This record gives sequence, C-alpha cells and structure tokens, in this order.
Amino acid sequence: MAPSKQKQWLVQGKQKGFDELVFQDAPVPKAGDYEVVVKLHGASLNYRDLIIPRGLYPFPLDLPVVAASDGSGEVVEVGAKVTKWKKGSKVVTLFNQGHQYGAMTAAASKTGLGGVLDGTLRQYGVFNENGLVPMPKNLEYVEAATLTCAALTSWNALYGLKPILPGQTVLVQGTGGVSLFALQFAKANGAKVIATTSSAEKGKKLKQLGADHVINYKEDQNWGETARKLTPDEVGVDHIIEVGGAGTMTQSLKAVRFEGVISLIGFLGGAKPQDSILEALNRVCTLRGVYVGSREQMEAMVAAIEANNIHPVVDNKIFSLEQAKDAYEYMWAKKHFGKIGIKIE
Ligand SMILES: NC(=O)c1ccc[n+]([C@@H]2O[C@H](COP(=O)([O-])OP(=O)(O)OC[C@H]3O[C@@H](n4cnc5c(N)ncnc54)[C@H](OP(=O)(O)O)[C@@H]3O)[C@@H](O)[C@H]2O)c1
Repeated sequence: MAPSKQKQWLVQGKQKGFDELVFQDAPVPKAGDYEVVVKLHGASLNYRDLIIPRGLYPFPLDLPVVAASDGSGEVVEVGAKVTKWKKGSKVVTLFNQGHQYGAMTAAASKTGLGGVLDGTLRQYGVFNENGLVPMPKNLEYVEAATLTCAALTSWNALYGLKPILPGQTVLVQGTGGVSLFALQFAKANGAKVIATTSSAEKGKKLKQLGADHVINYKEDQNWGETARKLTPDEVGVDHIIEVGGAGTMTQSLKAVRFEGVISLIGFLGGAKPQDSILEALNRVCTLRGVYVGSREQMEAMVAAIEANNIHPVVDNKIFSLEQAKDAYEYMWAKKHFGKIGIKIE
C-alpha cells in the first residue's frame, strides 16, 4: 500500500528560473479504473527540464506541474480495469502519454510529463496503464529512468523515418544524453559513428563507447567537411543527430549525403540558424523535426536495449530527490557527461 503523503518538486512558473522549483509535501494520488500508482525509484533530467522554468521551452506547458518526464519504478496499486500491469511490475514512463502509435499528433504533443501532465520528481505517480512501458530487464532503476526522453528521441531519429542500416554512417554532436544514446544504438546496428565534442578528455570516452571517429568541434571549425571526408568515398553521412541548432546546422549540411536525414532535435547552440531551408534541396536531404517518440517505438527500443545489453551512460554523480535542484544547477553548469541520475527513496 502506498502512504497518503509524499514529497515532490513542483515547477510553479517560468519567470524565475530554478527558483520556480519548490520541494513540497503532496498527497499520493489514487489509481482510477485504468490507472496504476507507481513507486518511483529513479528519475533523470533533460535540457528541457532546465529551460521550462526559464521560459525557453517551445512546446505546450500547463504550470504548475510536477517536474521532469523521466522515471522508473514499481507498480504498487492497480486500477480495477487495468490489464497490462500487476503489483510489482517494473516500468518506465512514456514522455508524451498520448503518443501511442504512429505519427505524432497535435493532441499527443499536449501530453508531455513534467510539462503538461505531472511528472516524475516525486515518490509516487499515477499513470494511465498505456503511459508506461516495461523496464528493460538488464537495467537498474536509475539507468532505466534515463530512457523516457533522450533515448526515445534518438531511437525515433534513427528508426522513425528511414531506419538506419548496418554499414551506414551516423554523426552525433557533443556528449549529451541524446547523442550518446544515438551512438550506442547506431553501433548496436553495425553503423559507423562520427562523434564531435569540445573536449579531448570526452573524446577518449567517446572512443571507449565505440565512436569510430572523434572530431573536436572547437579546434576544427569546418568539422562538417571533415566528417564528410571520413565517410566511404566521401559521400557524406546518412543520419545526423542535430542537437546544436544555429551552432551546428551549417556544418551538418556540409556533412550530410544525398538523401541523408538530418534529425532536428535541439538548439543547444542557438535557435536561429543562418541557413536557408532551401539547403535541403541543394543537398538533396531530408530535414526532419523529431519530438521524442511513441509507446510503440519505446517498446521496440526496450527490446533492442535488452538484446544488445545496452547500458545508458549515466554521470558518476547521482543525486537524491531532495538534491534535485542541485542536479539542475549541475547540468546547467555543464558538469555532466551523459545522463543525470536521481535516486528516489
Ligand atoms: N526534440 C526532442 O524531442 C528532444 C528530446 C530530447 C532532447 N532534445 C534537445 O536536444 C538537445 C540535446 O539534449 P541533451 O539532453 O542531450 O543535452 P545535454 O545532455 O545538455 O547535452 C550537452 C552537450 O551537448 C554538447 N553541445 C552543447 N552545445 C553544443 C554546440 N553548440 N555544438 C555541439 N555540441 C554542443 C556538449 O558536448 P561536449 O561537452 O562534448 O562538447 C554538451 O556537453 C537539447 O537542445 C534538448 O532540448 C530534444
């Protein structure tokens, strides 16, 4: 049985940055007929969680809201009509609770955890039975919690439009969560990976994770051209995981091959690229906006994680629920490598 009270982090508004985060007591929600109550054991942060209280997040919000989308835990209460789960089932949250199958829709884009619906920085959460997926059997709770947003976004980029094939080349930018998952998924499928980073030390870690080539984007301003030259016959890259936006788009367009896909995922280097969208015609490539992914895709991803025994890259510093605000500061200060893990007692 779940207790009646719990601790949670609420995002109150989007004016005052991290001061909008309030640690408070709250009632433990009850399960409706088609819902389950999950004792959350792990959570993780995304760049999105940092920019919501800073007023920079471009997708729908309904504040105040319990923070964060990423979580894993154990089902402790089951609604009367639930068929998918039982007490003790280990689960991971689905980012957009309404994105079940197929294409993203406007309605599904308004169902994000930690943005529109209450999220995972709490001890107990109530979720529709379809808003969860089975936790990979090879992962611990904190590892599994990192899959909700960054991992599924990478999976969707690599498999959602033109599924990646063995022998193809993938370019990943920087060493954030999205890029490292893309590296791992691409290598698991026999692709070559070109990774960029701003640091020699992180470059070594990228190699350890299987990157075939590492380019320092601070030292090599023309890294897109360099990446192209590293592909067979210099044809260019098949899939680009574009997280830098204005900071990287010009180089991504230099790197991509004819009929390649640039997945537009983030804008860490600014939101107003200089390039005309007509470059997609000049380069004969696809520019595709990606917004996380569906439950169907997440279940396929979980199967691949188990089959390949993939372990998410989690930063060495793990935070407690009480320390979650410190985790926001740590990530904002760019002290992390990979995902930020939060252990929930
Ligand atoms: N569309 C979606 O559905 C979706 C889903 C998830 C995330 N996102 C977005 O994707 C982006 C990445 O998310 P994340 O969670 O992976 O972020 P993250 O963990 O904060 O990534 C940080 C890393 O990105 C690299 N980086 C920063 N600025 C860069 C630049 N100008 N050029 C190249 N690399 C740069 C740095 O790598 P080095 O230190 O190695 O240089 C940095 O350590 C964010 O903008 C996020 O909002 C979008």
